Amino acid sequence: MGSILPFVGRLLAVLGAVGFTSAVFGPIGTDKPNPTGGSVAVDQPPLSSFFVGHNPPYPTNDWWSGFAAGTGDAVSAGPFPYESSLQPAGINFGISTSRQWDGTSIKQPTQTDWTASFSEHSGNRGDHKALSWDRQTVTVQYFTGSSTLTTPLVPGSPYLTFTYANATPKFTSGQGFITSFGGQTVNEGGSVTASGTRLQVVNSAGTYIIYSLSGSISLTATAAANSGTITASSQFNGVLRVVKLNDPSHAATLDQYSANYPTAVDVDYAFPDANTGTLTFTWQVTGSASNLLMLTWPHHRKALQNPNFPATNSLNYLTTKGWMYPILGNVWTQKYTLPNIDFNAPRAPDASCTSALIQGLEYEISQLVATTPDVPGDFYSWGNKIAAKARLALIADHVGRQDLIQPVITWLETTYNYWFTAGSPVLAAYETAWGGIINNQGYNNTGVDYGNGYYNDHHFHYGYFLTGAAVLAKYDGNWLNQHKNEVTFLLRDIVNPSTQDPYFPVTRHPSGIANGAGSRDQESSGEAINGYYGPSLYLIFIVFSLLIRHSIISGALLWATLSQASADFKNYARLLLATEVQAVQTYWHLYPNASPNDRDNPYPEAETRALTTMGNVEDWQSGAWLFWGDQKVEIAAIQILPVTPDKEILYDADWVNAMVNWASDELNDNTGTYAFVCSLISIVVLSDKRFLYSDSWKSVIYCALSNTDPKRAASLSSGLTDWGTGNTFSNQLYFISTRPNAGGACSSSPANPLGNFSIQSADTGHYVMADASSNLVASSTSQSGAAQLSFGFAPNAGTIKLLSNNQYVTADQSGSFALQAVRATASAWEVFIIRQKQGAAAGVYTILAASNHKYATLGGDGSLINNGASESAAAGFRIA
Ligand SMILES: *[C@@H]1O[C@H](CO)[C@@H](O)[C@H](O)[C@H]1NC(C)=O
Ligand SMILES: *[C@@H]1O[C@H](CO)[C@@H](O)[C@H](O)[C@H]1NC(C)=O
Repeated sequence: MGSILPFVGRLLAVLGAVGFTSAVFGPIGTDKPNPTGGSVAVDQPPLSSFFVGHNPPYPTNDWWSGFAAGTGDAVSAGPFPYESSLQPAGINFGISTSRQWDGTSIKQPTQTDWTASFSEHSGNRGDHKALSWDRQTVTVQYFTGSSTLTTPLVPGSPYLTFTYANATPKFTSGQGFITSFGGQTVNEGGSVTASGTRLQVVNSAGTYIIYSLSGSISLTATAAANSGTITASSQFNGVLRVVKLNDPSHAATLDQYSANYPTAVDVDYAFPDANTGTLTFTWQVTGSASNLLMLTWPHHRKALQNPNFPATNSLNYLTTKGWMYPILGNVWTQKYTLPNIDFNAPRAPDASCTSALIQGLEYEISQLVATTPDVPGDFYSWGNKIAAKARLALIADHVGRQDLIQPVITWLETTYNYWFTAGSPVLAAYETAWGGIINNQGYNNTGVDYGNGYYNDHHFHYGYFLTGAAVLAKYDGNWLNQHKNEVTFLLRDIVNPSTQDPYFPVTRHPSGIANGAGSRDQESSGEAINGYYGPSLYLIFIVFSLLIRHSIISGALLWATLSQASADFKNYARLLLATEVQAVQTYWHLYPNASPNDRDNPYPEAETRALTTMGNVEDWQSGAWLFWGDQKVEIAAIQILPVTPDKEILYDADWVNAMVNWASDELNDNTGTYAFVCSLISIVVLSDKRFLYSDSWKSVIYCALSNTDPKRAASLSSGLTDWGTGNTFSNQLYFISTRPNAGGACSSSPANPLGNFSIQSADTGHYVMADASSNLVASSTSQSGAAQLSFGFAPNAGTIKLLSNNQYVTADQSGSFALQAVRATASAWEVFIIRQKQGAAAGVYTILAASNHKYATLGGDGSLINNGASESAAAGFRIA
């Protein structure tokens, strides 16, 4: 995969003598990974017979990983329009003839139409292997003695291509008996022989055409009960191509281009200007390159430059990712606008939000500093939290509160330290069977860390770590110098651009090698994008050392050369991000108003598009569902989070508006449910009040909404009290306030009163005082007897401290006791939301306890008790 950049080409010539390889598309590293967790081997190594003659690293997430994982015979996600599996005796392939809709998913169950093999094959599982592979294709060979069948399996080729040597071609029907062959009817139990260079066969899957590129071939079709075979009359040396004929009108196109076949593909990148990246596929072709017939998907068509498209009705196949339509030629140049990637948003927070934002930062950073940095449990939750906390430092920087940066950095460094310390509960280890960095606890257990040990979701997990590491690198160069090697192993694990890295395969996607690496799927598109955001931030800092490693800056090369190469590295990550965003907007974001005939809309059915958001895009089905949840807010939120400044380009208005409308019943639902949490240590059962639809999911949906309607998003966000581990109040307000058109976004956001006050019941006129047990009771008839209370800030809420004893007011969850000023520090039960009471006179407030989301009412003796279920049941208070 050489680079086509003229610049790098020149550099290669200059540096040939010092062993330089392409800077941008050469390896990030070639050194042997030696993470603190050492080396392990996963308990599901690749099938050694398949990779005979090869060495790791092996791809773990490609469409054909099922050929090599487990027993090597899982149905694999391609080569589309076909799906296939490698069976001991031959290659199964087929195109689904059933398109189904079940209310939440569009499905095309996989099927085997035919098995390709040859009569001499032993049928032994070990008698097939990979000859070679590249970024998209794999060439497989079946062999026995001197007989071989070799097939380059090339996604996007309408034809499958089989090259035989000293072998008798044989095809076995997987869909009932053969009814017609070579234009002749085949009766059940009978057989028909035909010869030629183009023969059609029909079974219950429909019609296939067999082309011989090597002269006339004689084939006999035998229609056995419920099956059938087509066998050559003798050994054959040459090429057969096989293609599904969906419609008789497609035959002319298929006939015209059948002689030209692809055998492999080169993938290349270039950056013609600062904001443009191109991704180029160049197929190696036997025959006429310009007459290579391939198929495109919607995401290709949106990006292809100067394509030579035959008419869409001349050839087409409907898949769950939309129509595949024809294209001619062996070079596809796809153009993308490169997103701007930076730590922070491209504009300052709107002034209407800054004071709340700074209060939020002060509050959340003080809470962070007060907590012990996490001991890692699993990579996913740990990284997710690290990245969210790291953003607090970046936001503090942007709003000019540099004093708040260091506490965050110190916290982050303490938690990262577990990772560099032998004996920590979880460590990164180098996995030797496939080649990659895994959670060392997960090598024999798919239940650990979402299958991290089996290469599932690495780009989700490591994107978070690399974001955190980039923030540390930004503020502490010493940390970077100390830990660069170990952190860079993660970068190599997910975005290695080069086959020249001896320890990592080229890039990684979701779905690893567990369960035989069958069906591929991705259900967290927002985190996939983050899998390239984190690396691109981190690359800013390590480019310099990479260049030293590659000897680029040795000798007399100019500084300009260095900055050019450095820009190209970053552009590579920007391009990965751009392609991921385009894919998400094509396949995960649904557009109810799109036309069913829109060439580039993958979902022709209106009922599918009405779902607005795909939860999961799989090889044979796509649907608004998740493996772990079924709420609309969950399905939408997992396509949005984590909320980072680069997501500005992701949250497009058409999708966001449709999605918010679709999920509105859940977004507007503030009812609670009780979850009972049993603590075995203390043998007590706590009832933990939760919202049915949690604020943390809603929070990121409101961030997406802010891209188009910052005022509405700010207003909706002002009612939130939980942002989950991956988001924060400060990040929420920062994202909203840095949107285009955010002017005045927060000006009408309600907030607790802040300062020193006393409280008076609006109903009885009595002032709130503290009794001997520090309970709050509205029983004083004069203001002079009123308790002096300090109202402090908490995100979208506040704390109340009794000044006479310097204790925070707490509200337990039962709603049976008076509010009481007895806590030295404030946490979740010491937070109250104080708002103007709807329908009451101006200046009359309600007090809502965050602990149980109930309003303070007055007991018989005037005690303030958090047991009011609704605002109308709430007592009213004046605060002065
Ligand atoms: C994995 O291996 C460890 C250590 O050998 C063992 O204690 C553990 O039970 C194994 N886990 C599974 C799921 O097999
Ligand atoms: C509230 O009162 C306390 C104690 O008198 C004082 O230290 C503090 O500065 C006051 N806060 C405000 C905002 O006036």
